[in-house]
Amino acid sequence: MTAKNRIVLSSDHAAIALRQAIGAHIATQGWEAIDIGPITAESTHYPEHGRAAALRVASGDCALGIILCGTGQGIMMAANKVPGIRCGVCSDTFSARMIRQHNNANMLALGARVIGDALAIDIVYAFLGAEFEGGRHATRVKMIEAT
Ligand code: RB5
Repeated sequence: MTAKNRIVLSSDHAAIALRQAIGAHIATQGWEAIDIGPITAESTHYPEHGRAAALRVASGDCALGIILCGTGQGIMMAANKVPGIRCGVCSDTFSARMIRQHNNANMLALGARVIGDALAIDIVYAFLGAEFEGGRHATRVKMIEAT
């Protein structure tokens, strides 16, 4: 069974420091942060890191994922190619709550060149603290999965 508190984190080179800061922060709040890198700042390819993190979530090894690149957009697109993944880019806490409550998102993407570190941390907790509401939203999420 997937540990409900196990979170996979990954990024490209544009977001290493923020990714590590998020991992360290959530680890102090009872989350198990599984940081799969990369750890060096050399230029790398966000599709590889988005896919690697998405596979951890899709396989059930991790309950949720947090992925970052410069904008959050490229790595989100890569993660969403993996069946079973619902990942949204968020730059505000309202959207971060809503993608869990209404869209049953299992991954959050952040843009390290878009938002500041303190806002990113708030967004992460908005995402992690929210629960899927089911009901009419489950019908719609099933429709996404069916396409
Ligand atoms: C890397 O320079 C940049 O393109 C990447 O981090 C991301 O923003 C792509 O979506």
